[in-house]
Amino acid sequence: MRCLKSSYCWPQSYFTVVVVSSSVDRLSLCQPDDWHVHLRDDDMLVAVAPATAKVFARAIIMPNLQPPITTVSAAIAYRDRILSALPSKYKFEPLMTAYLTEGMPLQELEIGYRDGVFTAAKLYPSNVTTNSDSGVRDLHAIAPLLNRMQCLGMPLLIHGEVSDTEVDIFDREAVFIDRHLVPMLRCFPELHIVLEHITTKQAVDFVMASGPYLAATITPHHLHINRNAMFQGGFRSDFYCLPVAKREHHRLALRHAATSGLPSFFLGTDSAPHPRSGKESSCGCAGIYNAPHALESYATVFDEEGALDCLEGFASIYGPRFYGLPLNKTTITLERKPLVVPCSIPGPNKIQLVPFHAGQKLSWRLADNNDA
Ligand code: NCD
Ligand code: ZN
Repeated sequence: MRCLKSSYCWPQSYFTVVVVSSSVDRLSLCQPDDWHVHLRDDDMLVAVAPATAKVFARAIIMPNLQPPITTVSAAIAYRDRILSALPSKYKFEPLMTAYLTEGMPLQELEIGYRDGVFTAAKLYPSNVTTNSDSGVRDLHAIAPLLNRMQCLGMPLLIHGEVSDTEVDIFDREAVFIDRHLVPMLRCFPELHIVLEHITTKQAVDFVMASGPYLAATITPHHLHINRNAMFQGGFRSDFYCLPVAKREHHRLALRHAATSGLPSFFLGTDSAPHPRSGKESSCGCAGIYNAPHALESYATVFDEEGALDCLEGFASIYGPRFYGLPLNKTTITLERKPLVVPCSIPGPNKIQLVPFHAGQKLSWRLADNNDA
């Protein structure tokens, strides 16, 4: 295991190899956090937020609403709506993010961060994904914002794809790294950056070769599927998300990274629900709804890779350490028992949402006593 030196202090114990044998059938973890989730708003928020809050103590809330969350007051109001959407039994902390725009005033970002409203800011290159039309067209235009974030120690979360339609969709992450991330790291070497939902071996290699200021989140779906899943017997829009799943060797590189025990890779589900009408359309929405069984999905991967001993670091330790936040004091228990994921889950207004793994069997589930 390579020990990355970081500006944060990594207590020796995080690098201790905890041997979990493959015969283990119960696993208690420090309660995990989700470092990238879309909870949406209104009825959809009410329908999906409990699935996240049931398992995760905190989550980084994506700001790509319509209109996006670009002000401190909008973030406070959205945080209140999230908390009101949840039954009181859940102790859940939404960590709000600012949607970066070229016109965002420096003070808005700075006040939001200093007041503890914004945990981070999100960079969407314009038109790269769902609700990114207000995103950034020219990265030079946000250089003063990035500079201030570097001074403040405020993390920048990046949807790392170019929106240049001349670039093949399967190459857009790798091109973003070469074209934009490399120069950005040169200009802002101490800016804390999370490359979100990475999908390529190029991204894995790049993060591994970079210093402690660059980390990456990895979704459950990119650990389970490659691009064939979208075309199995017809077009399968439930497997369409952005960045789009890539070839098998990329998936294997992601599994290697997630289970490596390296603190630069941590959990971020990118759970992104859309109504059926949005998924099944001639111009279907990108996004996979994985929140209902995300932790079980990750556990299944770590088990298959013989790396259950590395699950807690990935799910519960490396994220808070990167963000400079305390670890959760509560725990969660998983047990090795088959779980069949339902084919659909009630969504808002009597519509059904199709969860990731619909109809499939996972080998781990939450232990019953977690539901108390
Ligand atoms: C996300 C969404 O629907 O908001 N979609 C997705 O495919 N992941 C946006 C995003 O994170 O790209
Ligand atoms: Zn996302």
